[in-house]
Amino acid sequence: MNIDIKALRKKLKKELDKDRYEHTKGVMYTSACLAMAYQYDINKAMVAGLLHDCAKCIPNDEKIKICKKNNVEITKIEMENPFLLHSKAGAVVARKKYDITDEEILHAIKVHTTGVPNMSLLDKIVFVADYIEPKRDKAPRLEFIRKMAFKDINKCVAYISYDTLHFLKSKKGSIDPTSEVTYDYYKEYIKDDMEVVTEEKVED
Ligand SMILES: [Fe+2]
Ligand SMILES: [Fe+2]
Repeated sequence: MNIDIKALRKKLKKELDKDRYEHTKGVMYTSACLAMAYQYDINKAMVAGLLHDCAKCIPNDEKIKICKKNNVEITKIEMENPFLLHSKAGAVVARKKYDITDEEILHAIKVHTTGVPNMSLLDKIVFVADYIEPKRDKAPRLEFIRKMAFKDINKCVAYISYDTLHFLKSKKGSIDPTSEVTYDYYKEYIKDDMEVVTEEKVED
């Protein structure tokens, strides 16, 4: 049975600021498009896209509390950068507040920021949709990444992970080790296209 997206949207709109809600709609529809391209359940993809950032506007100390209360492990890097916790806390909030019981949806929300090795198709759909939705405009070579999303989703995950790591390193920002583990797993998919990676230089 399909999950009632209209009811979820109504509830979620009150919890997010305007920009976050606009981004959320973009991720929801982009997830639907990717689900069509890869023959995944469209309703589930839309729900996961809609709720992926449901904990984004919760204050950081509250995010930490939610994780602690629900026995969600908090890594050192997450403790230092609690905004990273919006994915793990989001999975808890999606379950408790939005009554989502589908484990695939909850997992896609949980891993959407860093990715993980060996992601499910839904995990990859949300991870990619979050990066390419129409309102995004700052990431480098978005045209290339967007095209790749519909051509080969594993390659797309690899390129997104590569570009994200490159960006964080250039900014000397803290890197969640999970992002590195994700790239290590997915780089296999682009090893024959590595020239493209180095040729199409990432603009900082
Ligand atoms: Fe997010
Ligand atoms: Fe997002």
